[in-house]
This record gives sequence, C-alpha cells and structure tokens, in this order.
Amino acid sequence: MSVESLVQSLQKAELHIHIEGSIEPELMFKLAGRNNVEFPYESVTDLRAAYEFSNLQDFLDLYYDGINVLREEQDFFDMTCEYLDRAKADNVNHVELFFDPQAHTDRGISLDTVMQGLSRAIREKEDKNFKVRPIMCLLRHLSESEAFGALELAEPYRDTILGVGLDSSEVGHPPSKFRNVFEEARKQGYRLVAHAGEEGPPEYIWEALDVLGVERLDHGNRALEDSTLMKRLEREKIPLTMCPLSNLKLCVVDTLKEHPLRRMLDAGIVATINSDDPAYFGGYINENYVAVAKALNLSESELGKLATNSQIARFN
Ligand code: HPA
Ligand code: ZN
Repeated sequence: MSVESLVQSLQKAELHIHIEGSIEPELMFKLAGRNNVEFPYESVTDLRAAYEFSNLQDFLDLYYDGINVLREEQDFFDMTCEYLDRAKADNVNHVELFFDPQAHTDRGISLDTVMQGLSRAIREKEDKNFKVRPIMCLLRHLSESEAFGALELAEPYRDTILGVGLDSSEVGHPPSKFRNVFEEARKQGYRLVAHAGEEGPPEYIWEALDVLGVERLDHGNRALEDSTLMKRLEREKIPLTMCPLSNLKLCVVDTLKEHPLRRMLDAGIVATINSDDPAYFGGYINENYVAVAKALNLSESELGKLATNSQIARFN
C-alpha cells in the first residue's frame, strides 16, 4: 500500500488547527470581494507566492492581514465549512478547532457573529462519526487584562467552547504572563492548552505545565533540549500536537528529516500530527502525515501509533 493510501485509511483526530489559518487564497479573494475589503494582491497566484516566511512573526503578519476579509456570520460559516469538508475527506473523525476571538473583536466584529458562523458550520457538518469542538485561543502578544476581557465575553458560550489556548508571537511572551487568566479559565471548567516550545525555550514549556496547568502542549519541539522535561512529558503522558509542515515553512526546522517527531516517539511521548494553518503551510493533515512519514521513514506501525495517539490526546 502507498503511504498516501495508508494515511488515508487511518482514522485521525485533528487537535491543532487554527480555523483562520485555513482560508485558502481562493476563498480569501471571494470574501474580500464580497465585503469590499481592500487587498494588496492582484491574484490568487500572487497571494500564494507571498507565503514565504522566515519565522513565526513573518507568518503572523500575513495571517492577521488575511483575517480582515472575515466580516459577516456567513464568512465564518463558509471558512469553517470548507475546512471541515477537508478534514472529513482526510478521514478525520474528531476536530478540536482553535479560533482567535480577539483577532475579530478587536476590529469590531462581535463574538456573536464569530460564534454563530462557527456553530452553524459545526451543526451542518457534524455527524455520528465526526465531532467538532472549538477551543478559544488568547493572543499572547496582548495583555493579560485583555485576555480576561475575551474570557468574560465568551461566558455566554461556555457550553459550546471546550477549552482555552494560548497562541500568537511566542518569544517575549512567556506563559507566566497569563497565570491569572488561566486560573480563572480552569475555575470555569475549560480544558487548557498552550503553544509552547515552537520558537520559545524549554522554560516556556515548564511554565505552560506548572504555571498555567495545561493538559496538552501545542508544538513542544524545544522540549528536546531538556532531558528532565522529556522524562516528565513521557511519565505524565502529556500529549504534544506537532505540526511538521508548519515547522518547515516557519523555519523551526531546516528540513523535515530533522523534525523532532521521531525522537519524541522514541522517547515514549504521546506525539500527534496536525496541520496548524493548512492554507499557509502547504498541506492538510494527511499531507503532514505523508511528508513526515517519507522524511523520517516512519513504518506502518509508527503511523498507526500516531493516529492512535491523536485519539488518546483528544479531550472528549
Ligand atoms: N503559532 C502561533 N500562533 C499562531 C499560529 C502558529 O502557528 N497560527 C495562528 N496563530
Ligand atoms: Zn498553532
């Protein structure tokens, strides 16, 4: 069986996907036109050609620009439907879906607009073999008091939103900056995750665990630099949601052959494969599995283990 067919045959959970990073250039143009949003690109080809990044911030600058095309409930609905169709086609049975409420409310789009669009798409696409749960991410380049504002706004949606995460520019914004807001989120019953160790040092991973109390880590690549931390992740079975094509596009690794995934598996860590921002990084979940399988020579049983890990690492 080809690697592609094998990956297709595995039932996978996707646990690290930023829905705003799933807007393909074609949809971006369509929404820009529909909403009269000025757009500095002539064509889909031009826009795609701009997707060359040397680090996380380079990408985030374009990502926040792209988000401007989202205005109406229908835009959030269309974006989410497109991604969920892709996920289903890739044999994904469960999605824990990140969204960035502050990226919308800070430009005057109400949380109701965002949540109604997301929820309607989820209702339309869910079935007995396909579940979708949103996780709201707090933007770490903003203040903790702004994060508290986002948490407060989300209160009416407490039953819809599964968890709270932490994303955006990592270096210079350690998890400990959000100690109090994560404590409040825990009290409110949210499941907790955080991006840590994508570009930031192992200390940020320790903080995500010990200060924020997260149950799962997004990326976590740089745990490899700290053997005590590696042992802890293994012992406590703290899953990592890794994103190989993202790491390649954002120069977190120079080549996929150096990707830490195999070393994580060999260390007994519950590593998973995810797509992060698939429209920007050149592939959805299956393309991530295939690329890393080829680069790291993963066996059939290792690929099976990765899919099993994704089901183990789900929250519900
Ligand atoms: N890393 C950090 N923050 C993000 C990302 C990412 O890949 N995508 C959207 N926000
Ligand atoms: Zn991410």
